[in-house]
Amino acid sequence: MTAPTRTAPHHGSRSARSSQELIRAEESSLAHNYHPLPVVVARAEGVWVEDVEGRRYLDMLAGYSALNFGHRHPELIAAAHRQLDELTLTSRAFHNDKLAGFAEDLAELTGLDMVLPMNTGAEAVESAIKVARKWAYEVKGVARDQATIVVAADNFHGRTTTIVSFSSDPTAREGFGPFAPGFRVVPYNDLAAMEAAIDETTAAVLIEPIQGEAGVLIPDDGYLRGVRELTRRTGVLFIADEIQSGLGRTGTTLAVDHESVRPDVLTLGKALGGGIVPVSAVVADREVLGVLRPGEHGSTFGGNPLSAAVGTAVVDLLRTGEFQRRAAELGEVLKDGLAALSGKGVVGYRCRGLWAGVDVDPALGTGREVSERLMGEGILVKDTHGSTIRLAPPLTITREELQTSLAALEKVLG
Ligand SMILES: Cc1ncc(COP(=O)(O)O)c(C=O)c1O
Repeated sequence: MTAPTRTAPHHGSRSARSSQELIRAEESSLAHNYHPLPVVVARAEGVWVEDVEGRRYLDMLAGYSALNFGHRHPELIAAAHRQLDELTLTSRAFHNDKLAGFAEDLAELTGLDMVLPMNTGAEAVESAIKVARKWAYEVKGVARDQATIVVAADNFHGRTTTIVSFSSDPTAREGFGPFAPGFRVVPYNDLAAMEAAIDETTAAVLIEPIQGEAGVLIPDDGYLRGVRELTRRTGVLFIADEIQSGLGRTGTTLAVDHESVRPDVLTLGKALGGGIVPVSAVVADREVLGVLRPGEHGSTFGGNPLSAAVGTAVVDLLRTGEFQRRAAELGEVLKDGLAALSGKGVVGYRCRGLWAGVDVDPALGTGREVSERLMGEGILVKDTHGSTIRLAPPLTITREELQTSLAALEKVLG
């Protein structure tokens, strides 16, 4: 067998630039809508990523839960390769042979009837809003264009103009008005406020079962059951945005499973694409998704055969229960580790499964500064607000790797 050869970079190739050069180039040629950590990743496998210079880091963010199964999970990569060799895109103008199976499998996994395939999380949320409004007019009998949706303060559902209209984060909103009407914002974890905001115009309640971007805020036990009971009693749809909390992250397939609650509508994304392709979906009962008719909604790429093949492989992984189990078991290790750091630089934490928001003593630095120090220790995390960092490793992480990360956190806070 001949040794693999590397072809010399062609004239003008920019592939051999250092991390610093690439970061400088990004600064001048990309919009500044992100402030990434100064690491330039070139390769990855499982929980490990490697930068341009060959330095290795443990990925404790996992693409904000898009990489629940780790980087390049062999079964997901194999499914993508197989599909790349067969068919990649048809658009929904034609049928493809992978979409039906994906929809059946996802519906079965979530215990709901039907699937509306999209690509990004924000698109799934937008789609759920459209569907809820249509349902309100056609099924509930809300007066035309009067439908309202109740949402929670400090939510994060994406970046489109409609979604930022009901954000309570000034950075997400300022400068992007005029804002879409039809949303009522109530405090999270407050059933009385939610009930007071519901009236005959209300189509749906839209919440994250755990608020990720807000710092992994976990509502009181009974809140999700309360939302279910309230929405059922008042004839309102319960939309659970599980784009970040779902698909194994919290130790169960869905975060609502912790309270044995079944929403009317689920939005899924991130891990649904296995860290390979953007795949999102609205999953709902027939009575709800059935309101859409041809031409009323769509997406050129939504439901494409490559996404469907990867999505099916993701559902297959989740059916084994292994990832949920790992998240539940190792979540205890994470929780114990954070408890041990309490008072030693950690002033608060919230943890469910392999997902934690950690409030660091502001005297020790901002979340960003702590993240940079952790990067120096070979651990990649991301700050959220102020002095909060978020831990969401791939669910394939080992106990030892998790302990390595906790030891690094202890060191940078020491
Ligand atoms: C709960 C939730 N909904 C929606 C989104 C938006 O997803 P996307 O970035 O794929 O549009 C996110 C992303 O972080 C999220 O956490």
